[in-house]
Amino acid sequence: MSRFIGAIDQGTTSTRFIVLDREGAIVARDQREHRQIYPRPGWVEHDAAEIWTNTRAVIEGALTKSGLKPRDLAAVGVANQRETTVLWDRATGAPLHNALVWMDTRTQPQVDRLVAQGVGEAIRAKTGLPLATYFSALKLAWLLDAIPDARVKAEKGEALFGTIDSWLIWNLTGGRHAIEATNASRTQLMSLRTLQWDDDLLRLFDIPRACLPEIVSSSDVYGACVGGIDGAPLAGALGDQHAALLGQACLKPGDAKNTYGTGCFLLMNVGETPHVSTQGLISTLAYKLGDAKPLYALEGSIAIAGALVQWLRDNLGLIDSSDDIERLARSVPNNGDVYFVPAFSGLYAPRWRGDARGIIAGLTRFSNKGHIARAALEAAAFQTREVLAAMVADAGVEIAALKVDGGMAANDLLMQFQADILDAPVVRARQLETTAIGAAYAAGLAVGFYASLDDIAAHWREDRRFTPNMEPEERLRLIASWEKAVERSLGWAI
Ligand code: G3P
Repeated sequence: MSRFIGAIDQGTTSTRFIVLDREGAIVARDQREHRQIYPRPGWVEHDAAEIWTNTRAVIEGALTKSGLKPRDLAAVGVANQRETTVLWDRATGAPLHNALVWMDTRTQPQVDRLVAQGVGEAIRAKTGLPLATYFSALKLAWLLDAIPDARVKAEKGEALFGTIDSWLIWNLTGGRHAIEATNASRTQLMSLRTLQWDDDLLRLFDIPRACLPEIVSSSDVYGACVGGIDGAPLAGALGDQHAALLGQACLKPGDAKNTYGTGCFLLMNVGETPHVSTQGLISTLAYKLGDAKPLYALEGSIAIAGALVQWLRDNLGLIDSSDDIERLARSVPNNGDVYFVPAFSGLYAPRWRGDARGIIAGLTRFSNKGHIARAALEAAAFQTREVLAAMVADAGVEIAALKVDGGMAANDLLMQFQADILDAPVVRARQLETTAIGAAYAAGLAVGFYASLDDIAAHWREDRRFTPNMEPEERLRLIASWEKAVERSLGWAI
């Protein structure tokens, strides 16, 4: 059998391709950023055609750099930004509009209308998801209404809906219209228990069934690849956060991880039965591997984490590169009583306040850019604390240590502050690319490259453990100030 496995990680800001060997070591990688398109405040779009072009480019880049050939790959898996909604023409394969990105807030009026109709609880009971602009159903309905003839074409199956996994599966297999189950669980159109599209939800959101893809498992051979890795089996896909859960070997109920990417997403494996949250968390599919029973997860989703560092770089020019944030934050000994609530897309878990907007609180003549950098990093930690507290209350389990990964997890200052503010150890995985690794595991399991989940668990390695080192009074003072700042961000968008 071929000695390597490939994984595409199609994230919110960039696309990567990595190649792993059987021990889980990365032997090749390439990465490319794509454009973020902001037509109006609150609107965020991607060009799906550009994402496909970049996907082919990073595959070619990684193979060329390493001298590997498509036949060296036993299989390829996909991890992807979730909820982002694409509509394309079946005949030409061309997108009918820019993709609406998960953090886009244009559907807030439709959310408000459904909330006023009192259907929120019924939708949450079926899908595990609260009514919010975050999920795909309302984005798809918006596209069907905004693009001339789109609804008619969708009713005839001539216009096709998909999340980014579907878009890549369609292109990589030369035309299979499928969606992987964890991604389907984020559309708000699938029943979490049956893992099938739900007729009541389709009616409620006014979505024609003919435009929907077939729901497939996270680990299965979907077809043979075209597009630069010709012939390699496309054998797994997962929403990126679910991929990271698998990549961090969170295989048992109670195992949890937090990924600091564009946003920050804390997921805990809860086993074979979905757990309905009473604390503002999302109930979601963890993964469905082949014919095995599906496993479920509780999730605390935070919309903006690394995106705030990028915003400081791109919109304010405060730093030249994202890596400079730690140095700038270390230029001051503490936050100088400055708090940054990055509610750019409202606040997600556990508050779900679409009316919140970003604020910087506590500024004085003393404040400088170091304090703002520090406040930006601390925002991810404060929000994680809130989400973890909700998870402990919801699931009734203590989390002995939080496993972390993602780009910002490389930041020692943030990780130490995270441990301090949680008053719990934070354990960084040696391999921060857990998202791509999870997708590679799913694909590798489907083709027998990995024998079992035990095989996968054996690959996990700790890099560093951050232990809490903050006086309780100080922690409580910081949390109280953060909460005061959050209160001030609420209601701004009304
Ligand atoms: O739900 C959105 C999430 O999947 C985005 O992930 O890695 O692009 O921050 P990421």
